[in-house]
Amino acid sequence: MSLKKIGVLTGGGDAPGLNAVIRAVVKSAYNSGVEVIGLEDSFDGLIYPDKSRVLTPGDVTGILRFGGTILGTVNRGNPFAEPIVTPGGTYNYADRVLQMFEKMGLDALVCIGGDGTLAISYEFYKKGIPLVGVPKTIDNDIYGTTSCFGFDTAVSFATDAIDRLHTTAEAHRRIMVVEVMGRYAGWIALHAGVAGGADVILIPEIPYDLEKVAQCIRERDERGARFSIVVVAEGAIPKGGKLSVLSEAHGGTVERLGGAGMYCANALEPLTHKETRYVVLGHLQRGGMPTAFDRTLATRFGGKAVELLLNGQFGKMVANHPPDLVPIPLQDVVGKTKTVPLDNDLLMTARALGVGFGD
Ligand code: F6P
Repeated sequence: MSLKKIGVLTGGGDAPGLNAVIRAVVKSAYNSGVEVIGLEDSFDGLIYPDKSRVLTPGDVTGILRFGGTILGTVNRGNPFAEPIVTPGGTYNYADRVLQMFEKMGLDALVCIGGDGTLAISYEFYKKGIPLVGVPKTIDNDIYGTTSCFGFDTAVSFATDAIDRLHTTAEAHRRIMVVEVMGRYAGWIALHAGVAGGADVILIPEIPYDLEKVAQCIRERDERGARFSIVVVAEGAIPKGGKLSVLSEAHGGTVERLGGAGMYCANALEPLTHKETRYVVLGHLQRGGMPTAFDRTLATRFGGKAVELLLNGQFGKMVANHPPDLVPIPLQDVVGKTKTVPLDNDLLMTARALGVGFGD
């Protein structure tokens, strides 16, 4: 099949580097004689006729360094669950997307997103839409790729925050608890915690014992280090306790995590008799400019996605297997989460250095 026109969309939570992927897709497709249609707000661009536009190299000039996404994004859970109401009528979601894909004269799609968007994309691939997925997440939890753009930026930001908290923690001889994102994986906490020199790092993969954490802090006090930095992944769970959830999953939407830092700080104060404060870094980790690493990875992902489409390699996700980018079947990716293995090198090194994991 010779490609003439492709669509590009971004879905799920944003991550720094999305614009760099879009730019790479548009420029490399244009240079191969392929027109690109930007689909707005994820698959909504294939639902509503006014949510798509032609993207030329001129439209993507200067966006390499910007966070967010010029196409907009939605994080709506399972879109197949509800019928679609448009000014032109009510449709079954999947039928409408397939119909509009044909009507718009598209030959293929580049779908940039996290586990949710990749799962939706895989459904449409099985229904006949030729497409390639590009993995995106600050959480670094997508199966099959060693890294995703957005992660390095999030870790850099969290590391900077930990550096700042160090000075105030030391001045007041306090415990500072820092809650970072990551959903059910501890990658951000582990990497930012090590880079920021945290004393304790709590990750979802290792249920923690509060008494062990308190003991770690007491030992530091005895050694004369009278402050401590505790990095808590939002998905960290105390032994015998439960996940900290801000709102439960409902309809098609996923549960929202939050509160792990506050819980930990409130519990540590009486156990250590030390003044304790907590900070939630939240969406600051997703904002701002992508780091150089994320810009280059995102650019490589975008260029590779177009190369795969041109070669007819559909139903694949672009994966980073250093030093190469390789296509892996979407089928092997969806429904899985890449968590931190307990023998992870960085985790083992941190342990060897005396960092506490609450176990
Ligand atoms: O998956 C990225 C992520 O930022 C998670 O780390 C976090 O739990 C979630 O998205 C927050 O989602 P929302 O932007 O919908 O609050």
